[in-house]
Amino acid sequence: MTIHRTQVAIVGAGPAGLLLGQLLHRYGIDNLIVERQGADYVLGRIRAGVLEQTTVDLLDEAGVSRRLHAEGLVHDGYELCFGGARHRIDLAALTGGKHVTVYGQTEVTRDLMEARAAAGLPTVYEAKNVALHDFDGTAPRITYERDGATHTVEADFIAGCDGYHGASRASVPEGAIRTYEKIYPFGWLGILADTPPVSHELIYTNHDRGFALCSMRSPTRTRYYVQCPLDDKVENWSDAAFWDELRRRLDPATAESLVTGPSIEKSIAPLRSFVAEPMRFGRLFLAGDAAHIVPPTGAKGLNLAASDVRHLAYALREFYGERSAAGIDRYSEVCLRRIWKAERFSWWFTSLMHKFPDDSGITAKLQRAELDYLVGSRAAATTMAENYVGLPFEGAAAAVA
Ligand code: APR
Ligand code: PHB
Repeated sequence: MTIHRTQVAIVGAGPAGLLLGQLLHRYGIDNLIVERQGADYVLGRIRAGVLEQTTVDLLDEAGVSRRLHAEGLVHDGYELCFGGARHRIDLAALTGGKHVTVYGQTEVTRDLMEARAAAGLPTVYEAKNVALHDFDGTAPRITYERDGATHTVEADFIAGCDGYHGASRASVPEGAIRTYEKIYPFGWLGILADTPPVSHELIYTNHDRGFALCSMRSPTRTRYYVQCPLDDKVENWSDAAFWDELRRRLDPATAESLVTGPSIEKSIAPLRSFVAEPMRFGRLFLAGDAAHIVPPTGAKGLNLAASDVRHLAYALREFYGERSAAGIDRYSEVCLRRIWKAERFSWWFTSLMHKFPDDSGITAKLQRAELDYLVGSRAAATTMAENYVGLPFEGAAAAVA
């Protein structure tokens, strides 16, 4: 049995926990991360890869953006493909010069891990049975088991950054939390391949056979997705079957120029909208996937995690620096306002682009009308673009930016 004392105990070493730890360290706030998995396992998870400018700014502030700026791809637009043709959404022109940066979440995580190791900050990997205690009082603790012993971390605050299946949200009494959830009737089958991207920008496709997305990780590595049935299995999909299906959903010119190759990774992800309210319970704060999930259409997941972390880091800095609880008191409310807007956008974009299994035909027709409207109306395209690049912050976080 060991007892460790820190200011902020962080549960989970995904991007949310690691970024929070790095920012707090920069502000002189002591923190320790406890993670259930090993570092390699965390790095093996392939997730989305589109960063809003505010996420890039925060990674700059955390001092972990050197490789991001060297290797990240700045995208000024993307394309919507439907009815056999591609239509560009010019993000920069529609948002007064804003853009997004394509850089994989895995790489963000790797950069954060390296920075944490270089700064000598403590991370406990492979911590079993992580449990949270007494966060409704002034002396919260977490306990975990490792190497056959039980360890305790005493802290001023606990940050629950342990994802959708984590211990943090689960330890909140049922009556104190309300959750909202929607599960979509399809999944995304994704592959990663060392092939050149079919286009220099992302292509989001609405097709009678289902949604498809052409994305990338670098000029030599692609990430492509096709909508698949909810109960589909990766084993049902050879690489050749995947490439055939993707080709069928693209416009003829894109299909023709698609370069295929062996997959490096292949996985199926379900699509879910989920929000837990509130995000603060006494001295426990939830951040990132622990509090909310968006369907991946629009790539808001990592960006939302980063914006929670930004609010939480600033609030804790205010608490320790100015002895003011104003930031932490407003944390949940301020985060949730922006989260619900991103939930709305992700739900809308998902609803617009996918084939719904129970559609009698009217949904596809309405989607087509909306897509026509989007690419024909500057007002409609502007709405889409300003959400895609990321909505502005409000309150104290906006002022600091
Ligand atoms: N104890 C400790 N750690 C845990 C526990 C637990 N009981 N349960 C889960 N974890 C760890 C997971 O192993 C994982 O490393 O918490 C981490 C949570 O990381 P993510 O799931 O990546 O969540 P987050 O950091 O909030 O990142 C959000 O991930 O899913 C994407 O779309 C999402 O891009 C967004 C990003
Ligand atoms: C990805 O590259 O994985 C990706 C990109 C854009 C999305 C979703 C996923 O909207």
